[in-house]
Amino acid sequence: MKVIVVKDYEELSKVTAEQIAEVVRNRPDCVLGLATGSTPVGAYEVLAEMYKKGELDFSRVKSYNLDEYYPMKADNRQSYHYFMNENLFSKINIDPENVHVPDGDCKDTDAMCADYEAQIRSAGGIDIQLLGIGRNGHIGFNEPGDFLYPDTHKTDLTDDTMDANARFFSEDEIIPNAAVTMGMGTILRARKIVIAASGASKREAVAGILSGKITTQCPASLLNMHPDVVLVCDEEAYGRD
Ligand code: F6R
Repeated sequence: MKVIVVKDYEELSKVTAEQIAEVVRNRPDCVLGLATGSTPVGAYEVLAEMYKKGELDFSRVKSYNLDEYYPMKADNRQSYHYFMNENLFSKINIDPENVHVPDGDCKDTDAMCADYEAQIRSAGGIDIQLLGIGRNGHIGFNEPGDFLYPDTHKTDLTDDTMDANARFFSEDEIIPNAAVTMGMGTILRARKIVIAASGASKREAVAGILSGKITTQCPASLLNMHPDVVLVCDEEAYGRD
């Protein structure tokens, strides 16, 4: 694993965006695995700026997002569909036909998840997967526990994750307690993975990766098995002098 420690969030966003930009430049029809949450917002701004300056072309790029709340309609402003449109897709020239976010409004989650896996496979697999990390060490919504799931699946969210997500919801909104998410295998099958962590609240989770040990109690620690992972973290998340 390559570890890049940067000063602050601004630098983290630039370095993270550059990891993705390099793949898009080298392979204009690449397949991106994308994440939501606070962490990638700055990187998405940098990528949108690169597109605006004519430095990047997303016209042949495909994307698959990690996860979506369940149940959740795509047009709900709390949905990850909505988030991706607001923060990235509406600002670049990606073909709307080429963007994929798990359907949080489907009736049959098993069928939807199997279809999502099949779509990723038929697209040729993910070239670069962007990840944030939960303060409990989750990636996607693969929550710490006695076991993890390999493929895209429906999952309950832990109290800690719901608590962390509460900041995005107003008082009268219900915080979702379930999601559909890529599994650990889906993530680990990506050819390259870039995981970004910012702020002191991520320190324990980052330490879980850096320990070099693998445990289902810190799903991100399984990234130690992957041959091409870049961990980008700011000094606060890294937490070592
Ligand atoms: C989002 C996702 C989550 C987040 C994680 C960190 O698609 O899969 O695993 O990456 O919860 O969220 P932030 O960046 O908001 O701290």
